[in-house]
Amino acid sequence: MSQDREATPRERAVQGFERAFGRAPERLSRAPARVNLIGEHTDYNEGFAMPCAIDRDTVVAAAHRDDDVVEVLACDLPDEGGGAGDAMGADGARRSGGLGARGRFRIGDAADVSASPQWLRYVQGMVAVLREQGQAVRGATLSIAGNVPQGAGLSSSASLEMAIGHAFSALNGWTLPPTTMALAGQRAENVYAGCRCGVLDQLSSSLGVRGHALLMDCRSLEVRPIPMPEDIVVLVVDSKIQRGLVDSEYNLRRQQCEAAAKGLGVKALRDVDDGLWSRLGGQLDPVVRRRARHIISDSHRCAGLAEALSRGDFAAIGHLMRESHWSMRDDFEITVPAIDALAALMQDVIGEHGGARMTGGGFGGCVIALAPRAMVDEIRAAVERGYRSPDGRAAEVHVCAASDGAGVLA
Ligand code: GLA
Repeated sequence: MSQDREATPRERAVQGFERAFGRAPERLSRAPARVNLIGEHTDYNEGFAMPCAIDRDTVVAAAHRDDDVVEVLACDLPDEGGGAGDAMGADGARRSGGLGARGRFRIGDAADVSASPQWLRYVQGMVAVLREQGQAVRGATLSIAGNVPQGAGLSSSASLEMAIGHAFSALNGWTLPPTTMALAGQRAENVYAGCRCGVLDQLSSSLGVRGHALLMDCRSLEVRPIPMPEDIVVLVVDSKIQRGLVDSEYNLRRQQCEAAAKGLGVKALRDVDDGLWSRLGGQLDPVVRRRARHIISDSHRCAGLAEALSRGDFAAIGHLMRESHWSMRDDFEITVPAIDALAALMQDVIGEHGGARMTGGGFGGCVIALAPRAMVDEIRAAVERGYRSPDGRAAEVHVCAASDGAGVLA
């Protein structure tokens, strides 16, 4: 490895493995993070979304064991034990002599996550779900490293789930269709990690296509790759705003959407057409009505963005992204003032050459832009000059590209 660049996730996963376990890994898997370009909170309403996988990965280095234990080193997390050896910590995490956090469980006990730290629940959850689905899962030693910004709403957890799924697939000699793997990840997250997310994040990480956005039908789970213009970049600007309310507000939005569907007499908001909306929309409670209006309009914008991307029509791309941001701000109410200011500041620089909007669950996280590559420096400079989070932090700008979905590397 050369001295003048940062080690890649792959290099760190392998090095961590060798140092912690004293042997070389047998298999390597990876899975990307995602951004959603448009269609926010539409997934659990069985509507459309339009994400892309990005070139920020979680990598898992893995080897067999002869027993029924899964032993895991998380290279990017602090060694909670603070001491030498591998004595068991109070929360089931183990010490690993400064190499990272360490966890361990028996395959038969994977479903019992009650004493496990959050990060280990994703690993246990995947093992539990794969076993429920009848896959053979034998004991394994794993080391995990990644370059997905944590807590920024870029689905680091979905990328961990997909990378873990592929590690067990490679070690145990079976494969799963990518959609099935995504659903396993969603179930691991819903049941074992305690987050009631839709399927957007896992499908994006599983099915990403380099250079393409994914037009995703969250009812049929059909995913159509849409080529992105060659000179476009996906700029991901991490606002550094803590997404404190995200869980309670996320669940509240889900309930409001369910209430809207019930009030309109449909299975999901996906089923609302113009006629039904003009007949019954006005009868909904005003807040519930605005929530539904966001879902219906943002789901429709997905097909528009697919067309605009295919045509390379940057002005139309920008128009749709702006409308989507305003809909999240005014109807779905999941933005915060500093995020609105950041999106507006970026949009001002970009003008008619593309667009900016918040991405993900809301209440902080990242603002993304789709813009010509030639504008990156100008946007970056404007963000550096014009933005600070409420607690005074500068944003972090990641220049990303649409990447391939999860798989086995070696
Ligand atoms: C989070 C969830 C997804 C999706 C988005 C909002 O990322 O995990 O399932 O609902 O929020 O679009």
